[in-house]
Amino acid sequence: MSNNLLAGKVGIISGALNDQSIAWKVALKAHAEGARFVLTNAPLAMRMGEINKLSEECNAPIIPADATSTEELEALFAGAQEQLGGKLDFVLHSIGMSANIRKKKHYGELDYKFFNQTIDVSAMSLHKMLAVAERQDAFNEWGSVVALSYIAAQRAFLDYTDMTQAKAMLESIARSYGQRLGKLKKVRVNTVSQSPTKTTAGTGITGFDAFYNFADMMSPLGNAPAEACADYCISLFSDLTRYVTMQNLMHDGGFSTTGISAEIVDVMTRAAGE
Ligand SMILES: NC(=O)c1ccc[n+]([C@@H]2O[C@H](COP(=O)([O-])OP(=O)(O)OC[C@H]3O[C@@H](n4cnc5c(N)ncnc54)[C@H](O)[C@@H]3O)[C@@H](O)[C@H]2O)c1
Repeated sequence: MSNNLLAGKVGIISGALNDQSIAWKVALKAHAEGARFVLTNAPLAMRMGEINKLSEECNAPIIPADATSTEELEALFAGAQEQLGGKLDFVLHSIGMSANIRKKKHYGELDYKFFNQTIDVSAMSLHKMLAVAERQDAFNEWGSVVALSYIAAQRAFLDYTDMTQAKAMLESIARSYGQRLGKLKKVRVNTVSQSPTKTTAGTGITGFDAFYNFADMMSPLGNAPAEACADYCISLFSDLTRYVTMQNLMHDGGFSTTGISAEIVDVMTRAAGE
């Protein structure tokens, strides 16, 4: 069902790798809500070619860019404005990668070259994007930027290793750049802290199934699916949320404010043989 919430709006959507990606669902919904946009991803990720299907379905051009490269981001933002015929109304940052997680390194043995790369790809890239947008004066007034985060920014989740620090930094950049762009251009910047979700990035984490099931049992509404996350992003791109900025918005079915649930009590009781 479409409500034309994004009619007339144009933007950039990063991070659609395959049809499991949160960004993929955001793109489909943004298209259904009347937006026009450019899709982007790292050139390496595009070799798999899946993004071409999404591009056809949404009638959205693709501009490859490694989000750690200021030059490539400059070409992305300039190219997007050219292809879309004007300044931007929204940007989705849906980018995360940790070689430490990929290589299953535990928190005590993190490789610092990888750690730097995790920060660069997963957090500093938001600053780079917004700095490029600022220099190019690429936003329309009342534009909206959303980046995806995870509750490990606030709580310790050891298996999330260096992504924990990356998400804390991402949320902090959203606050600082939100303050700056709010003043400069009335543009809002928020992070959405999403439930564990079965995507390529998500399932790469050691013990993912266990903490997916744990979060599901803890959350009164259950884990939020990727489609629902996409709906939330659309609401944040729409004019219905024009004064929401510099926030980390929990989209987690109630997980973050639950102490313990009946389901967890049940599991623990059975484990204790009571
Ligand atoms: N899956 C989860 O459980 C979960 C939970 C909370 C937040 N998130 C966040 O959601 C976002 C999207 O992840 P997803 O779960 O849809 O997984 P995904 O693997 O589908 O998406 C991650 C994307 O990051 C892109 N990327 C990696 N390095 C890049 C680079 N250098 N330049 C540009 N793009 C690059 C990948 O190509 C991929 O498209 C990430 O920020 C992730 O941390 C995921």
